[in-house]
Amino acid sequence: MEEQKKRMLSMVQPSGHLTLGNYLGAIRNWTTLQDEYDCVFALADLHAITVRQKPADLRRNTYEVLAQYMAAGLDPEKSVLFIQSHVAAHAQLAWVLNCYTMFGELSRMTQFKDKSRSHADNINAGLFDYPVLMAADILLYQPNYVPVGIDQLQHIEICRDIAQRFNSAYSETFTIPEPYLGKMGGKVMSLSEPTKKMSKSDPNPNGFILLMDKPEDIMRKFKRAVTDSDMRVVCREDKPGVSNLITIYAQATGKTIEEVEAEFEGKGYGEFKPAVGEAVVEMLRPIREETERLLGDKAYLEKVYRDGAQKAERIAQRTLDKVYRKVGFVKR
Ligand code: TRP
Repeated sequence: MEEQKKRMLSMVQPSGHLTLGNYLGAIRNWTTLQDEYDCVFALADLHAITVRQKPADLRRNTYEVLAQYMAAGLDPEKSVLFIQSHVAAHAQLAWVLNCYTMFGELSRMTQFKDKSRSHADNINAGLFDYPVLMAADILLYQPNYVPVGIDQLQHIEICRDIAQRFNSAYSETFTIPEPYLGKMGGKVMSLSEPTKKMSKSDPNPNGFILLMDKPEDIMRKFKRAVTDSDMRVVCREDKPGVSNLITIYAQATGKTIEEVEAEFEGKGYGEFKPAVGEAVVEMLRPIREETERLLGDKAYLEKVYRDGAQKAERIAQRTLDKVYRKVGFVKR
């Protein structure tokens, strides 16, 4: 008999554009996990409104991120792909879990403290409650693993605490999920400040590459990438800029670090940087073209997210029904 696949769930907020860092650090790895795991991926639009969004931008970004996910290889035939707000159970379970989450433990969340500082004019209850909604997102689907960046580890930790608390108050209801840091593609660093992670919120647009950047912009950003005065293409701790470019080139071409170092032995940055740019242009070209094609086919995207919501709902409703019964709600 075929062994039951383990389940994996992850979500991203559909705010803004995806970077090369999102792609190499997360999405590309997810695409390879689709055969090994039973995967659920969603766009966290309910989370997105914890900070102010322009409605038209949120709507467009949601379509764009969905199209980019699919263009990057997330396959709606293999994985469940949906939009969070389409499955009512997320908000419903979040309410119940609120009553099993302590004010004190939410007050300790570092992301809440950071965001309260950066959005001081809008410290709303949703921002405070964000980790509980995230716990609901996860626990509804009973996943074994949740791939996340380290910035989200504290949220996985509180999700586990809430799940354990509920399980011990009633009986086994939720699978306790584990964070999946895996052998992720590693961190992609900023091209302008290579000791910092590549981020689309970098005020210097030369620091990050967007999946939708035009080839000439990608080339320009790599040619300007910060390196050092040593001119040798080797991966070393005291050469963060060059090391970052080597890692990117290796991932874009499928070569090892040693192979890249050997390829550019005796050649300077003048030859190396454009080579990295070209490799990234070629890696991203099919993704950009496919994203554009998908965005031109709204009817298909709509079919994908509708089918996805239906599949997600079936799984989520089963968990929600169980929870409602356990806490003592009268069955409708
Ligand atoms: N908070 C996550 C982030 O900003 C997004 C998210 C929402 C998420 N719900 C989730 C991630 C559930 C994993 C699982 O990156």
